Amino acid sequence: MKAIKIKDDVYFVGAFDWNLRNFHGLDVETGTTYGAYLILDEKVTLIDTVKVGFEQELLQRISSVIDPKKIDIIIANHGEPDHSGSVKIMHELVPNAKIYASVNGEKSLKGIFGDLPITAVKNGETLNIGKRTLTFYHTQMVHWPDNMVTYSSEDKILFSNDVFGQHMAPSKLFDSFYPKEQVLYQAKKYYVNIVSPYNKMAKKALEALAGLDIELIATAHGVVFKDYIPDVKALYASLVNNEKQNKAVVVYDSMWGSTKVMAKAIAEAFMEKGILVYLYNVNETDQSVIFTEVVDAKYLAVGSPTFNNGILPSIAGFLTYIKGLIPQDMKTISFGSYGWGGQSPELIAKELAGLNLEPLVPPIRQYFTTHQKDADNIKLTIKTALDQII
Ligand code: FEO
Repeated sequence: MKAIKIKDDVYFVGAFDWNLRNFHGLDVETGTTYGAYLILDEKVTLIDTVKVGFEQELLQRISSVIDPKKIDIIIANHGEPDHSGSVKIMHELVPNAKIYASVNGEKSLKGIFGDLPITAVKNGETLNIGKRTLTFYHTQMVHWPDNMVTYSSEDKILFSNDVFGQHMAPSKLFDSFYPKEQVLYQAKKYYVNIVSPYNKMAKKALEALAGLDIELIATAHGVVFKDYIPDVKALYASLVNNEKQNKAVVVYDSMWGSTKVMAKAIAEAFMEKGILVYLYNVNETDQSVIFTEVVDAKYLAVGSPTFNNGILPSIAGFLTYIKGLIPQDMKTISFGSYGWGGQSPELIAKELAGLNLEPLVPPIRQYFTTHQKDADNIKLTIKTALDQII
């Protein structure tokens, strides 16, 4: 395996995890990368490493351009083990190489590895490595307290670590080898499922990076951005500003089909009002995919039949998942059928209210089977409520 040149004396030396399908709970359709980069300057500099298990790939790629023992500097932009996992291995191989991390990065790396000599750098601090001067910008909470990015003004490269990342394994590293929609969808899915709870801090971090002259964004996951830089920046601006689409997402589970009929009636009501609809049986689609549509929707409907005086575990799991991601500014609908009891719509409504989301209509309950006239009533209820706000 060889290093992949991205600019003169700057190489991708990371690893492709082709078969990864689940990244700590997130659905990953096409694998990912652990992007590490090597700069050949007077001081040979490694920016980030790879997940443990991929260190041979890292070492082989480095060895294709230089003896890894010649590395002088290791920069750990982030403590999460997909990037810092091999820092200790590299330290053991090159004990004299100096390791740099953010102030919080020093803490997390020592928490992960025990005693490791780390030089903590402040936000805006610079490091001369020969012809180049690197600048470190802290990007706290995008998405850990320790995140930072490294900028080379001579190369006009931002080594962005998780920022602008996408879970893809691109054998051709540069963005334009792939359809823009595919890359931006993966960037959105990545951001919304790990960073969106910290939108305000992400906004601050991005504002701090806005003035940089950037030709390449060398991410730690997925493509290297070159041609799509304005597009991915626009995507992030839209996400940090919580911009909404005229869209409804209907998520449900069903025991005997009645809650499913309710879900379809709700979806039809939105469709008849000209609103884009996504309808998901929660068992058929990964929550990270569903949330990628939920995050910028104006409306969210969640339905479960009553089950043991509560809601189905599948929908309870979905509510738990989105609770951590703090969706904002959407009108909600809670619904579900029941044979006796009938608590589920109220319980869902309570959960959604706990997220500070306002209901579009009171909880909708359906006794046993949703007949055509019931579906028509549900549609009318939703359409009437929509008429009052649009
Ligand atoms: Fe890709 Fe937060 O690690």
